[in-house]
Amino acid sequence: MIIVPGTSQGSLDFARNLAEKLGVGLAKVYHKVFPDGESYVRIEEEALDTAVIVQTMSSPQNKSIIEAMLLADAAKGLGAKRIVLVSPYLAYARQDKRFLQGEPVSIAVVLRALYHSGIRALYTIEIHKEEALSAFPGKALSIYPYEYMSEKIGITKDHILLAPDVGALRRVEYLAKKLGAQYDYLVKKRDRLTGEIVLEPKHLMVKGKDVIIIDDIISTGGTVSKAAKLLLEQGANNVYVLVAHALLVDNAIEKLKTAGVRKVYAANTLSPVENAYNLVEYIDVSELVAEELSREL
Ligand code: R5P
Repeated sequence: MIIVPGTSQGSLDFARNLAEKLGVGLAKVYHKVFPDGESYVRIEEEALDTAVIVQTMSSPQNKSIIEAMLLADAAKGLGAKRIVLVSPYLAYARQDKRFLQGEPVSIAVVLRALYHSGIRALYTIEIHKEEALSAFPGKALSIYPYEYMSEKIGITKDHILLAPDVGALRRVEYLAKKLGAQYDYLVKKRDRLTGEIVLEPKHLMVKGKDVIIIDDIISTGGTVSKAAKLLLEQGANNVYVLVAHALLVDNAIEKLKTAGVRKVYAANTLSPVENAYNLVEYIDVSELVAEELSREL
């Protein structure tokens, strides 16, 4: 087995960590973008057997996806018998149904395209809704990092866990039951056209407590900062966030700080954002992928 580091931002670091955990080598990959914007990749190896491509679908996501497919075809050309994709952050996962008439099921399109480029097994971290993986015709696994991360940062039964929307409840419920901790959830409404979100008012038993908000993604920070504000208004002691994918776009960091979030613990599925001002701590979760890969391959 050889790890083929992908071309997108954040992929090389994850690939190195994974190769180290598995005790296998890293392939050399050459990559450039032509003046007209087309991507070029070349795997600089003589031949491949099992190729594990590591490509997180970081921004620009479309380029990351195309380059994962180019790498898969390059691996096929080098004789790889099994091509596996490790995509710590799989973009387009939130468009997993036609919310409005005329929309695509974007994640299904991406998964089918990856399969048809030669990828036969896919490992990702927290795909938002596991059911979406059924669109991938090969083996596909979403790995949940929350329990592992909670051990690393020392979440205990004395913390209160909060799901910022109903979709996040099953993650929170699972972890809370493992820890014997209390948990609760909020109801979030999102305007599908403007993206504007509103949290339904709710009284939460958080006075004097340290609360951990758990979500799969922080994108603009709107969801988490609204939840944090509500918790602090109701007397929570400290508000922390545990998240799989810290996209942190626009002014998310400022928004989270202003809302009073003490710390964001994020898995290293994406590379660290520059202006995190000590707010974000990244936790390496490559060990979880290594465990799954060594079980399967
Ligand atoms: C939505 O269902 C997701 O689980 C996240 O809550 C959402 O993507 C977060 O986005 P934002 O940070 O922009 O509120």
